[in-house]
Amino acid sequence: MKLFKAVATALALCAAFAAQARTLDEVKKDGKILIATEGQFAPFNFFNGTTLTGFEVEVAELVAKKMGLTIQWKTLGFDALLTGLRQDRWDLVIASHGITEERAKAVTFTEPHYCSGGMIIAMDPAIKGAKDLAGKIVAVQTGTSYLENVQKVSSIKEMKNFPTDVDARSALNSRRVDAWVTDRFVAKAVAEKNPGAGFKLGDMLFIERIAAAVAKGNSSLAAGWNKALAEVMADGSYAALSKKYFNEDVRCQ
Ligand code: ARG
Repeated sequence: MKLFKAVATALALCAAFAAQARTLDEVKKDGKILIATEGQFAPFNFFNGTTLTGFEVEVAELVAKKMGLTIQWKTLGFDALLTGLRQDRWDLVIASHGITEERAKAVTFTEPHYCSGGMIIAMDPAIKGAKDLAGKIVAVQTGTSYLENVQKVSSIKEMKNFPTDVDARSALNSRRVDAWVTDRFVAKAVAEKNPGAGFKLGDMLFIERIAAAVAKGNSSLAAGWNKALAEVMADGSYAALSKKYFNEDVRCQ
């Protein structure tokens, strides 16, 4: 019985420690920060061949460098990213998450690294604004803020969910849906890269502030990130990256 109790206590302690998010000091001692992203949301996070890159991947590299850390990247499905933070499977997530009240209940957001919003894209130039979505089928990526904002457009016929934003785009491209809602910079890049495909950029459906996230209450890590982010925003390195990717400064004004 004694042994059983001792084992049970030991197991409980292990579980408690395993579920503990690493503080800034702990991450710094290790020298490595484990960051998760999706890798399928160009131009923000994507694979160029086998290399993970993109605007926010490069922003994260700048921020981590300022913090004196190297990044160990993990890529996985968008849906699993914030959940993994709660289970302390990685230290931070950067995957174009808009700051929403719902998400903020589960994770702690850092300061935003860009401002953007959801845009309507269609093949039919008559579909431009929210009112034009009446009776239409709209594609969005599962788990995104696009989903909850399209849901608010009560007149739509149907909303179709796709595991990746690339799948949602393909559905529009093959005309299985009437419209696609995604980030305005994603939409711009797709239209520019495929000039003959017939993508028509419509209106913005909503705007949002995009930030990285850490485990709920991991304030030391969030503060360390925010300080370094403010530095890269002040020293010109953020501005240079933003110009390279978007030809404009995408920071929140
Ligand atoms: N900004 C949107 C949101 O907050 C979409 C993010 C999608 N990110 C991605 N890596 N696919 O939900």
